[in-house]
Amino acid sequence: MALPNNNPTKTNAWQQLTNHFNEIKDIRIQDLYKDDNRKEDFSLTLNDLSVDFSKNRITSETIKLLVDLAKEVGLQEAIESQFNGEIINVTEGRAVLHTALRSNSEDSVLVDGKNIKPQIQTALRKIRSFSNKVISGKWKGYTGKSITDVVNIGIGGSDLGPDMIVESLQYYKNHLNTHFVSNVDGDHVSEIMKHLDPETTLFVIVSKTFTTQETITNAETLKNWFLKSATIFDIPKHFVAVSTNLEAVDNFGIDKKNVFPMWNWVGGRFSLWSAVGLSISLSVGFDNYRALLDGAEEMDIHFRNTEFENNIPVVLALLSIWYNNFYMAETEAVLPYSQYLKKLPDYLQQAIMESNGKGVDRNGDKIDYQTGTIVWGSTGTNMQHAFMQLVHQGTKLIPADFIGYKESLYGLTDHHKKLMANYYGQMDALAFGKTKEDVHLELQVSGNADKINTLLPFKVFEGNRPSNAIMFDKLTPKSLGKLVALYEHKIYTQGILWNIYSYDQFGVELGKELAKKLLNKQ
Ligand code: F6P
Repeated sequence: MALPNNNPTKTNAWQQLTNHFNEIKDIRIQDLYKDDNRKEDFSLTLNDLSVDFSKNRITSETIKLLVDLAKEVGLQEAIESQFNGEIINVTEGRAVLHTALRSNSEDSVLVDGKNIKPQIQTALRKIRSFSNKVISGKWKGYTGKSITDVVNIGIGGSDLGPDMIVESLQYYKNHLNTHFVSNVDGDHVSEIMKHLDPETTLFVIVSKTFTTQETITNAETLKNWFLKSATIFDIPKHFVAVSTNLEAVDNFGIDKKNVFPMWNWVGGRFSLWSAVGLSISLSVGFDNYRALLDGAEEMDIHFRNTEFENNIPVVLALLSIWYNNFYMAETEAVLPYSQYLKKLPDYLQQAIMESNGKGVDRNGDKIDYQTGTIVWGSTGTNMQHAFMQLVHQGTKLIPADFIGYKESLYGLTDHHKKLMANYYGQMDALAFGKTKEDVHLELQVSGNADKINTLLPFKVFEGNRPSNAIMFDKLTPKSLGKLVALYEHKIYTQGILWNIYSYDQFGVELGKELAKKLLNKQ
């Protein structure tokens, strides 16, 4: 079944949302919070995850109308089409099945009439066996020494996902040093080479196409560096590849046995769940990698089977559309209160902006409404001392996701109490602000009554700035998998509502072509 194709702005629900928006647009979170049940009524849970979306400029009518919109544009059918392996990436003629990669179910998923589950299981077994050999030291380099360093060579989806996950799961990391080379900037690879010993380094070249300029250039540079100490016969012990392009991998000199598969039905930015995640499995062990997949699967099941009003990715997608298309907010902040998640905003920028940064709809017609949001962010509490001034008192409306954990990993409770006090404090400050009266009183009490006339307007916080509190018990591989899958499903939901194709990325091509032409002229 083809994806539904509806201009969202021409639907009944959109008309109703427009009327509703005009009625409530000046609503204040401060006033909405006079309802004692507000928090309870606007919270959702999924085992160790809770999402409190009470600090938004919405009423239950807003949610109802947004859900009506999702129903009217055929979101449920679109979700089924994705999970069933239909060709929903129409412009590239592909199914989109990163969900199949993490599925534990025995049910078949067909692509071109063939069940893909057995190939996924084979790839997982290969990842497990290879990771075990390298981690245990049984895999030896060309001089008989065990591997100490793993270098992931890739860019975009072949880098950002594994890099972000390895960084986020540092607590679970083993003895292997993991490095990521992505930029074609030679200084990047040179800095990394300084720390490597050819006898004990394993290179994982990750490129779905195996033609990406940056990756192939870095891989060649590292191979040449390696060959200064070793011979081409030593390559199989030190170079492995993850790719769909077997011929190019072979030409590069990589042993067939050392090739891990990629498939056309997995998009680059959704590929960390495939063998693209090999560096993750090498860094934290296969069991932790599997737990990451299991967490994602838990979110998949929730997304597929839960009615929209209680469906976490759907509700977050709808809220984002509310701000993007009605309040005309252009950006969204992602603010994790865990230093481990410092690479999450970068990762999400590719996932969200490469997917939904589209200006034509599913008919190929130019769109006259806003699509993809601009996503940015950094970790709390550091960002409180950086950009939060603008979020609190600037002229722009910036809805923000605050991601937090009930427990810290090392158990420094004093730190964690402070961290979480800031987490809640920021959201309260954004929502409730500080009134003129409060500032007046504060200046008086602090003996600064003489400054009231000059300082008062600068110290007022208007509040009414929206946020979502996304809270897990603890940062584990499983909870991280759930978090990433949550955002993946939010992306797809928004793409369906905006009537765009989320799974192609033609917008990255022109710059690449022009760079190639310039290079050929030199
Ligand atoms: O930036 C465009 C893109 O195609 C991404 O979608 C992809 O993740 C990245 O390039 C890398 O591509 P490849 O894995 O083929 O090297």
